[in-house]
Amino acid sequence: MPSAEALKARQKRLAAGREQQRAEQAVTLPSQGQLMLPLLRCLDSAGGEAAPADLYDPVAAEAQIDATVRDAMAVFAHGRVHSLFERQVRHAQQLAKMKGLIDARSRGRWTLTDRGQGVLENARPGVVLTIFETRFGLAVWGHVEEAAALIERGSVATIYTSPPYPILKAKEYGGMEAASWLAWSLDLADLWKPLLAPGGSLFMNLGAEVYRRGVPYQSTYLERFVVAMEDRCGYQLAQRWHWDNPTKLGSIEWVSVRRRRLRQTVEPVYWWVNDVAGMQDRADNRPVLQPYKTAQRPYRAGRRPSGIDIGAGAFDRDNGGAIPSTLLSAANSASNDPYRRACRGAGLKAHPAIFPASLPERAILMTTQPGDLVVDPFFGSGTVGEVAERLGRRWIGIERSKAYLDTAALRFPAIAGGEGIPSCP
Ligand SMILES: C[S@@+](CC[C@H](N)C(=O)[O-])C[C@H]1O[C@@H](n2cnc3c(N)ncnc32)[C@H](O)[C@@H]1O
Repeated sequence: MPSAEALKARQKRLAAGREQQRAEQAVTLPSQGQLMLPLLRCLDSAGGEAAPADLYDPVAAEAQIDATVRDAMAVFAHGRVHSLFERQVRHAQQLAKMKGLIDARSRGRWTLTDRGQGVLENARPGVVLTIFETRFGLAVWGHVEEAAALIERGSVATIYTSPPYPILKAKEYGGMEAASWLAWSLDLADLWKPLLAPGGSLFMNLGAEVYRRGVPYQSTYLERFVVAMEDRCGYQLAQRWHWDNPTKLGSIEWVSVRRRRLRQTVEPVYWWVNDVAGMQDRADNRPVLQPYKTAQRPYRAGRRPSGIDIGAGAFDRDNGGAIPSTLLSAANSASNDPYRRACRGAGLKAHPAIFPASLPERAILMTTQPGDLVVDPFFGSGTVGEVAERLGRRWIGIERSKAYLDTAALRFPAIAGGEGIPSCP
């Protein structure tokens, strides 16, 4: 049986709890998630480290909190009066700490981590800035969902891109699990379709090796995506290409450690066309013909095991070169390629997920003419921009990380050398 004193204390705590609840209901507090970015920005402005008490007012200003919310107080269970807003900022700090964005190990001080700094380097929602321009192209800093609105409808000949793949663990350059990825990517495909000219192409390099959590079985998100691209978005599948990256290690867990699967080195590149009846498709494989291999000609005449009869001289005609297959083999890990060398020279960190230039080059040559517009909405290190510039195509690159755009600028000597003008409208 609790003592009379314990009962009294309990009643006091309950009354304080009810009072606190009433006070909370009287104001609409911002959520912890809403406060997180303002908190990171204010920490950054304070030099990366600050005492909580020095951050409350700046965070309220940054998050545009009105005075009634900023000043709302409540009596807490132990009888002391506290600011509800300040408590919410502390909760936002805990959330940021769980995500590794803030470190609070030293007592009474909050510190921005490298990861938190990385979040700040991504574009702010609603803000799209031109970071640099070249003779043919434009690199913009912004979120793909917003920046796409700047592109004129029907003006794009080809989109060539590689979005972040669905994954289980967040990577430096972003990532989400398969179900959210599917919804997000289909919305983007809907957004891009009217930007494409009739017969315009959309190429997407997508990750095939996505395992479900904790089991050696793969997600079938790609299959679902391909079906929905046709059924929901109305794209036509032109072809599946495959990129073989011989240096790819594959899943560490299922391939290298537990040895249950093979090293998966091939990734698909899906090619869709914005065309209903096959009447607008302008693709042509002649610009990508390759030199004949000497062994390829001359051919031996006669009936093949398949039953096809090849007449003498059938392959003697020179058609300008051999037609490439849909399999393209190229490593993306050369540490001494000009981009990575330029990054090292400038003291910048190179992008971690670059595709080889030969992929967009083939697509651009097959589906565009000089002067046509090519877009990469996930620009990264700017591979597509570099190829388009070299081939005389106009281009637009969209990227949410300013740090990656700074490295992309190094691909264009006129910019990096100071002859171009990095512009910020
Ligand atoms: C796989 S990388 C692209 C790399 C590029 N193909 C290359 O060769 O350098 C994907 C890029 O998309 C960017 N990104 C992710 N989400 C974005 C978004 N919502 N808006 C704009 N860019 C985004 C990431 O910062 C990352 O640089």
